[in-house]
Amino acid sequence: MDHFTLIDGALHAEQVPLARIADEVGSPVYVYSAATFRRHARVFRDALLPLGRVHLAYAIKANPNVAVLRLLADEGYGADVVSGGEMARALAAGMPVSEIVFSGVGKTRDELARGLDAGIGQFNLELEEEGRVLAEIAAAKGMTAHAVLRVNPDVDAGTHAKISTGRKENKFGVPIDRAPAMFDRLARLPGLDLRGVAIHIGSQLGDLAPLEAAYARIGELVAALRAAGHTISRVDLGGGLGVPYKQGDVMPSPAEYGAMIARATKGWDVELMFEPGRVIAGNAGVLLTRVIWVKPGVTHPYVIVDAAMNDLARPALYDAWHDFAAVHPTGETMVANIAGPVCETGDTFAMGRTIDKVASGDLAIFRTAGAYGATMASTYNSRALVPEVLVDGDRFAVVADRIAAETILAAERVPEWLTR
Ligand code: LLP
Repeated sequence: MDHFTLIDGALHAEQVPLARIADEVGSPVYVYSAATFRRHARVFRDALLPLGRVHLAYAIKANPNVAVLRLLADEGYGADVVSGGEMARALAAGMPVSEIVFSGVGKTRDELARGLDAGIGQFNLELEEEGRVLAEIAAAKGMTAHAVLRVNPDVDAGTHAKISTGRKENKFGVPIDRAPAMFDRLARLPGLDLRGVAIHIGSQLGDLAPLEAAYARIGELVAALRAAGHTISRVDLGGGLGVPYKQGDVMPSPAEYGAMIARATKGWDVELMFEPGRVIAGNAGVLLTRVIWVKPGVTHPYVIVDAAMNDLARPALYDAWHDFAAVHPTGETMVANIAGPVCETGDTFAMGRTIDKVASGDLAIFRTAGAYGATMASTYNSRALVPEVLVDGDRFAVVADRIAAETILAAERVPEWLTR
């Protein structure tokens, strides 16, 4: 459910015509709906709050725009961060530091120290050595680091290989069979308060069964750790709930997810932590673009739009599908390929797809671009960095500027010895 709908024949974001945004800000541009963000944040929260002691740490990587973070902080969300940069954003947006989780398989010593200084609520340890280093840094500062151990349950999440994280050959977490001994060793270290375990098996999960299987393994681990004398007060169940990208896609609802969690965690008696990203942000954003040309093709015409793989990388990276819709649909359709201006064959959003009929100069959107969209943008082909707009009712604001190619050029220089 989102708020990008037709009003009097023109696509709007809430009450703002998308054409007005294109006129004032230009294209391509990401457009977010505050009402959609709030709705998703509340639906997810309402599905999980009945479980009792629940912490919601929005996975910032999905959409780290500081205005989005501010809005989610107001909805009671903390943050899951994976770098010093993300931590700085969460703090800048006013997210409570005790509700920030520091994840990531390659946190540097400097990042660990900065996290400690900031008072981060939970470090998710990815390997034993990281735990030792964190304990050492904390002890040297006379501090205690609160942490959980991320385990790899060796479960296939059944999602795209590039976003699957819970199989034993993936780089994430420690093997579940080695976790008890590791937990024993780490729990003894001064400076470290190891209070539980974490898990995250992948993203865009369309089936709850692999999650439930993974959680069952975590339940057994929690029981084994307790039997060994450890106090386990927290379990972080990660993120990963999928969203519909294609009309007609059916995904598990937050309510179904909540019911499964209730079943799977029955009797655990811990605080549960969640790290939702896509399910909060995905359908809260679109990428607004203008058709540059409709170029005749051998089989189908190419609709060449002014957005490209540097603005929305998901189709090129994961063969991802994003619905395409005209901002002023005529009711007619056409079969076309949709591509951007970048000089790569992979800069293609769709092949042979039936879409709203468009002509040169028309505006259109790629839907479900609120998660892993702008944040994965680059300036490849010396294109500008794509801007972001937040709509809230009948208001809108540019919440990230377009960074011009000239500004990026200005940060480069030719060394003096090449100018002679
Ligand atoms: N927690 C951890 C430890 C994660 O690695 C991730 C995502 C999340 C939470 C949030 O997962 P979500 O709820 O959003 O599924 N760029 C890819 C997705 C990468 C996901 C990385 N990790 C894409 O565009 O599909």
